[in-house]
Amino acid sequence: MTKNIIAIDGPSGVGKGTLAQWLACKTGFHFLDSGAIYRSLAYGVIADGIDLQDVAALSELAKTLPVEFKATSILYKGDDITSKVRTEDVAAVASKVAAIPEVRQALLERQKAFAQEPGLIADGRDMGTVVFPEAPVKLFLTASAEIRAERRVKQLKNQGNDANIAQIIQDIKARDERDANRKTAPLKPADDAMLIDTSDLSIDEVCQKAESILWEKG
Ligand code: C5P
Repeated sequence: MTKNIIAIDGPSGVGKGTLAQWLACKTGFHFLDSGAIYRSLAYGVIADGIDLQDVAALSELAKTLPVEFKATSILYKGDDITSKVRTEDVAAVASKVAAIPEVRQALLERQKAFAQEPGLIADGRDMGTVVFPEAPVKLFLTASAEIRAERRVKQLKNQGNDANIAQIIQDIKARDERDANRKTAPLKPADDAMLIDTSDLSIDEVCQKAESILWEKG
């Protein structure tokens, strides 16, 4: 176990994944993409046709989730699902199952187990508040839903996909609403988190800002 943990939380599309990966490269720390765990669970729920009301079946799957992270790939029962979990449909199911306390509890130890030497960069919604409240550095990224949607549209277009900005804004707002208003581990900054508004910043500027905060914290 390590005490060198940098917790990075915030809503979707805010740049925390890119920042977390950049910091992991720079520091040589391990990287936890906790959203990928919830997305993998959602993938399994959809594949197995589990009813979203069936809390026992959902928590059983969460406890035994057959997912492995290999470098940048996500394997589910050995199959590569890396790109399959990146759809908004999977994200929407992820945010629904993520609101269930039994599911979150079932995934807690699995996330904590990522905290290995030399350190961990943990990306999610409740890294600083619930999973690693002891983290000495906590960053909370924000940006308006409209700006996050524009970034998503650009990303989809670069991948050669169609994108409907109005639909994307609606999806992002619905997911923010669910994530921020759930009773267990809602999306919110820890009391000791440093806030970074990324609305008007390039990803390089976000990384520089985070790095200067890390320097200040020593
Ligand atoms: O970060 P990402 O968009 O991949 O997360 C997908 C969904 O998983 C989020 O909308 C949220 O509902 C859930 N999640 C969570 N707690 C985390 C990470 C993700 O509830 N630590």
